[in-house]
Order: sequence, then C-alpha cells, then structure tokens
Amino acid sequence: MDTAASSGLTEPLRSIIDGKPVVGGHGRRLDSTNPARLEDVVATVELADADTLVAAARSAREAQRTWADVPAPIRGRAIAHIGRLVEDNAEALARLVTREIGKPFGEALGEVREIVDTCDFFLGEGRRLYGQTVPSEMPDKQLFTFRDPVGVVAAITAGNFPVAVPAWYIVPALLCGNAVVWKPADYSPACAAALHELFVRGGGLPDGVFNVVQADGPTTFEGLSRALDLGLVDKIGFTGSCAVGAEIGALAGRHLQSACLELGGKNPMVITPSADLRLAVEGALFSGFGTAGQRCTSLGTVIVHEDVHDEFVAAYDAAVRTAAVGDPTADVVFGPLLDEKFGAEFEKHLAQIQPHHQVLGSTGIGRITAANPRHGFIGDPSAGVFYHPTVLDGVGEDDSVFLEETFGPLVGITTYADFADAIRLANLPGYGLSSSIYTGDPSEVWTFRRGVSAGMVSVNNSTSGAEAHLPFGGNGKSGNGSRQSGIWVLDQMTRWQSLNWDTSGRLQKAQMDVTELVGDPGLRLAD
Ligand code: UN1
Repeated sequence: MDTAASSGLTEPLRSIIDGKPVVGGHGRRLDSTNPARLEDVVATVELADADTLVAAARSAREAQRTWADVPAPIRGRAIAHIGRLVEDNAEALARLVTREIGKPFGEALGEVREIVDTCDFFLGEGRRLYGQTVPSEMPDKQLFTFRDPVGVVAAITAGNFPVAVPAWYIVPALLCGNAVVWKPADYSPACAAALHELFVRGGGLPDGVFNVVQADGPTTFEGLSRALDLGLVDKIGFTGSCAVGAEIGALAGRHLQSACLELGGKNPMVITPSADLRLAVEGALFSGFGTAGQRCTSLGTVIVHEDVHDEFVAAYDAAVRTAAVGDPTADVVFGPLLDEKFGAEFEKHLAQIQPHHQVLGSTGIGRITAANPRHGFIGDPSAGVFYHPTVLDGVGEDDSVFLEETFGPLVGITTYADFADAIRLANLPGYGLSSSIYTGDPSEVWTFRRGVSAGMVSVNNSTSGAEAHLPFGGNGKSGNGSRQSGIWVLDQMTRWQSLNWDTSGRLQKAQMDVTELVGDPGLRLAD
C-alpha cells in the first residue's frame, strides 16, 4: 500500500479525477495521524476545493456513457478482479485501516473481508441485472422492464468503516454502469487512496469512471450543491451523522432526488428472563465496545428485565472491566477513537452522566492517561486518543445518554418489567438502524421483530454483524428507508424503464381497447 508517507515520498495524497492527481485546489493540507500513536503521520492530504468536486462530477458524467455500454457481465468481471486483488492485499489494507483509524487488526481484516464479500455478490449480478417480461392487457403487445444506471453516483462516507462501507456504494454503482465520485472521510485519506488504487488498477477501470475527491465536509457540500445545480450528479449515497444526513437529504430533495442515507443509531439490546446471559454479555461487550463504540451498529442501551438485571450487570461489569483495551495492533477489544476530533464530541456525552447513574466498567471515566489509568491497558495511553469504557447503569428514559447516539465506548443500561415496555423503550430514541434481543422464547422474537423500528434485528447475537448480502439501512433518524447491500441496493443504483412494443399494426389504447370476459355475477348455487 503505497501512501505518500509509507513510501517515504513527500508528495501529499491528492484527489484523482480522470485518472490524474489534482494539483492545486485551495491547497490546504491536512495530516492524517495514527490515533493510537499521534506522532505517527500516516499521510498528508491536499484537500480539494468545491470546483474540484464539480470537475470530478463532470469527468464522471463524460466517462459514464461509455462505461454503461460495457456489457454488464464484463463489468461483473471487473468487480471479480477487484475482489481478488483486495483479497490478495487484505493484510496490507487491514494494517493500513488499523494504523489510520485505530480499528483492531482482527476487526480491520473483517472489514476488508466485507469488501471481498460485496464483490463476490455483485460479480454474479453482472450476469443477472434481470429485467422482466410482463403480459400485456392487449394482444400482439409485449411489455418489458429494464434496469438502467442512474448516471453519476456521489458517495460520501465516514471513516469508521473507511473501506467496507464505501465499497457498499461503489461496487454496485460501478456494476450497474454508473460512474462514481467518492468523497471519503478527511481523517482516513490513506485508506481511501489505497482502496481507490485497488479498484482502478484491479478493475482496469477507464479514466473518469471512479474519481476520488479528498475534501472536508463544508467544501463537499458546496461542491455537491453546485454539481447538482449543473445536473452532474444523479444519486447521492451518504453514510454519516444524522444532522449532516438531514442536510444532504434536503439538498437532494430540492433537486427531486432521493439520497441513499445511512445515518446513526441508538441501537437497543433487550435481554429477557429466558436469555442466555453469558451469550448476552459477550454480545454486549462486542457491540458496545468494538471499534470503540463507533460503529453505526454499536450497542446504545441494554434494556434488561428486572429479574435478571443484577446478574447481567455484575457479569457485564466484570467483562468490560477486564476487557483488553489499548494498542490496536495487539489482541484488544478496542483501541483508540477514530481521530482526535471524536474525543471532544464524546466528552460532551460523558458530561451528561448524572448522579443517578452508576458508573461501571473501568477504573476511571474519560480519556485514559497516566493520571487517569485503565487497569490492564495495553501500550502507552498518552500516545493516542484512548478512552475508558463506560457502562452506565440506572439510565432513565429522559436522559440524554438514553436518547442520543454517543459514538464512543459508552453503554447505558435500563430495566423493564413488561415486554411491551421493553419494545417501547427500544423505539423511544427514534432511531432505527439495528437492534438485538436475547431470549429463549420464540414468541418474544416475533413480537419484538414486528414491534421494533430498526431495519436490522438480531436474535441471540449482537447489534453489529450485518452481512454483505442482506439489506442494510435505517428508519426514523437512522435514514430515509433506503437500503444498501444485496439486491436491495440495485434499486438505488438503477432506474426501472418499462418498454411496451406493439406489433398489432393498429393503435391499441391501454384501458380502452381491452376485451372483457363477462361472466354471470348473479349465479347462485342451489341450496
Ligand atoms: C456501519 O457502522 O456503518 O454490522 C456499518 C456491522 C458492520 C457494518 C457496520 N458489518 O457492524
């Protein structure tokens, strides 16, 4: 993985349009640092200006027509090659993910695997992309449906999954015959450069089909808005915060487009009296603290039945207290936050801890330092952006830590007595991305499935764990109902066209020139 820093070059990473690095823009440079070792500069990136995003969309617009003419099975072969190349580079790419955003190496390898899975799924879609033959209401008339690419897809993604989640947009977009402009997170530019290189080189993609724009958020918004005004973008895919998602959704709406939005979550885990508590503790540890609680699917609040509350809390506290935290290249449950800027946001949530909360899970609260140590910490906490895992028992439904996504290593616990109330509490914060229930009672599973607002429900498994061929997306504050992954994302990346072909040699008018078979509606069987 040749990044500017790792190859020892002094050239910064740049946006790439039409196969060429963009020199210029407003020229602002940003260092991407290793959040586990802040002195380690992973790459320097030259941030683009809004004109660059517009130019990228224009280049994509020009390249897209030719790309759409490449037969879909051949585009599928390109996706196959990309998948193999990612697989062959899995360790190097995962190491870069660990270095740039601090995700433990095992999880980073899983993230890379998710790209390969996505490619494996969509390479076959190149030989399907099925349309339908549909019967007409008139003779000598044939009806068909076709999937057409939308055109130019702008994908704007977060850095908590700096390579897998982008691939959820980019792979199906390319497969369907679209050209892509990708704006990765500005704190994971080296991962973005590596992924872009693997895709373009691995897939043999023509110039302009896949452009990457390294920019900050406000510049991206301005560039996107102008590109939309100029008619250069046909679909926006956005993964990120609810607040920015709402802005993007409104911008898309003003251009009569619906964006594909994957936003935050306050994902509940209900633990019933019949739950296997050992399993529930394991699931709550992984989904509460994996990726330092910064997955969209991270566990927000445990909603535990009052009869098993004490037993669960004691076991969970012990598990979190003894969990390995620290150097993400070691075997840890979690490492640092993604980037320094997330520390400040997370601390705002920690400031919402109230006297009625019982704080569990660690030897301190807040940033782990020599003065505020975490027992058993692996590595040097002062080198990076490490936070204590925090478990808050006694969380009430009016508390902000119950209602808002905290995007950090914090899990709340509340109790319920009546199952209907557990479902009410699960839905109360108004998000709807993921959810989980631990129970041995199948009737509770079905009642929960029907009642919970989330797009994803796990039974006896954690709130994380989406697979590449399942629909993924949220309701309520977590999104606008759009779905990524699997066959469902095809409806984001294509538009249906219907064709009716009349060979009768006359004008057959639908609804009017239709034969009707008239039966005898008055018929009654004799008693
Ligand atoms: C996200 O956090 O945006 O289920 C995606 C999971 C992962 C994907 C998460 N497979 O946690």
